[in-house]
Amino acid sequence: MSRPGDLWWKSAVVYQVYPRSFADSDGDGIGDLVGVIDQLDHLVELGVDVLWLSPVYRSPMDDNGYDISDYQDIDPIFGSLESFDRLLAATHDRGLKLIMDLVVNHTSDEHPWFVESRSTRESPKRDWYWWRPAREGMSAGDPGAEPTNWRAAFAGSAWQFDETTGEYYLHIFSTRQPDLNWENPEVRQAIYTMMRWWLDRGVDGFRMDVINFISKDPALPDGRALASGPYADGGSHYVCGPRIHEFIAEMHREVFADRTEAVLTVGEMPGVTVDEAVLFTDPARAELDMVFQFEHVGLDHGDGKWDVRSLDLRDLKASFGRWQAGLADVGWNSLYWNNHDQPRVVSRFGDDGADRVAAAKTLATLLHLHRGTPYVYQGEELGMTNAPFATIDDFRDIESIHAYDELVAAGRSPHDVLTALRAMSRDNARTPMQWDASKHAGFTTGEPWIAVNPNHVEINAESARSDQGSVFHHYRRLIELRHTDPVVVHGDFTMLLPDDEQVYAFLRRLGDVELLVVANISTDEVTADVPEADAWARSVLVLGNYPVSKLLVRDIVLRPWESRVYRRA
Ligand code: GLC
Repeated sequence: MSRPGDLWWKSAVVYQVYPRSFADSDGDGIGDLVGVIDQLDHLVELGVDVLWLSPVYRSPMDDNGYDISDYQDIDPIFGSLESFDRLLAATHDRGLKLIMDLVVNHTSDEHPWFVESRSTRESPKRDWYWWRPAREGMSAGDPGAEPTNWRAAFAGSAWQFDETTGEYYLHIFSTRQPDLNWENPEVRQAIYTMMRWWLDRGVDGFRMDVINFISKDPALPDGRALASGPYADGGSHYVCGPRIHEFIAEMHREVFADRTEAVLTVGEMPGVTVDEAVLFTDPARAELDMVFQFEHVGLDHGDGKWDVRSLDLRDLKASFGRWQAGLADVGWNSLYWNNHDQPRVVSRFGDDGADRVAAAKTLATLLHLHRGTPYVYQGEELGMTNAPFATIDDFRDIESIHAYDELVAAGRSPHDVLTALRAMSRDNARTPMQWDASKHAGFTTGEPWIAVNPNHVEINAESARSDQGSVFHHYRRLIELRHTDPVVVHGDFTMLLPDDEQVYAFLRRLGDVELLVVANISTDEVTADVPEADAWARSVLVLGNYPVSKLLVRDIVLRPWESRVYRRA
């Protein structure tokens, strides 16, 4: 059933591929585009609609491709423009769409724009980046002489002193990811031209990397001191900065205006609030289709992500509940547990021991039955877990390695820091996709760039596909349910039992059709005290993760990590 004003991406499910870790076709230990082509039928069997490809552009790989040195070429480790075109055609042939990662808050320091910009203060591209002299009264290069006190996301100051011209440049991420100056209209036009070039080539949209950081307060004021360390949080001067909506609306006009119906745009937005998200995704404002918010993936952070806390289920429900309500009438949610920056959800919020399969299915059920567009990150559909990293040498991620150095230097014990990294490191998401039980999980015939999780012997796509009780088939059923039952896509959302510490339950309703989702987020047996349970006497169970004999909803006793979805009309 489609409704007036329906947009295709409202009923779509997006699958994210992190090409480096997906499938290696040439035995160099690094995944590539031909590897993605070879495995496309896995996505087809799962039933997803869109493939989001993490960056494959030319890059020195300081941040695994999120540092781009040529926006209009493919890095040789991944393939070529020719293999990209083949992937795009193969994707379209299977009825899937393909969206690219768009990384335009910053470039690589090897991008010709930056090479030119840093060459002299008089360069015509000087103003394409943020160059500033040392703090007044201080000498360039001295400690504390940085133009602002902002901390970079990957440790240290957000300013790098550059000897050639005696000034500093801004980098919110690594020193090799200088921030572009969006105040300069030439920068914006160059980016729009590049975006149109990819759309003309046939891509179906963009996932936009930290796109809510592109507008900085040009006065560049100091930030708020952090709980520890010499630097401050500059976020209030660049997270959803003063011209952000103007820039996004301009991008929409210049790039998407005559093709909005066909494309999907999703903005990655750390720190975005519900109120801001409503503005970004209000169709009347013509900015973006949806945003990735970060609230739920910060609930187990204390003083930063390396201060790991356990999740209180009530916080998770309060957060999701607020986002569901906040974007109920205007705008649209994206839904995710995982991506290439987050630890594996079954280890993080679930149980990766004896109840792994039940926990992975229940977490999937919860997410996929909220209102919004779900994103599946490669391996999530297999219930892949965090990795048993033993020493710091097992990590590859720039953020993790810098954090280790910084925290150990500040006096935290290496053991303690490793424990935090094991829980939160981005490398948990980046171990190779587990295709089969063979050596290196069928990912590569060479030496993988990061170790394969030894549990691939048990957790892998080949065994999951042949087992109807697997996490994979549960994801497949959830995706099918979204495609066939409009209440999943359009139904309104009501959170139930917000104060229950173990049960996550909610209703979806569209006209006369109602769904009840009830889940046990614990290893205990629990009773779900669903309000007005009698009204569900004639419902049908549409999905569960345990065999169920008694279908009555009243006083449901749920086994460890059990979840059920009931439907009534
Ligand atoms: C985004 C990406 C992350 C990257 C950062 C800088 O958060 O998802 O992987 O390191 O931006 O580009």
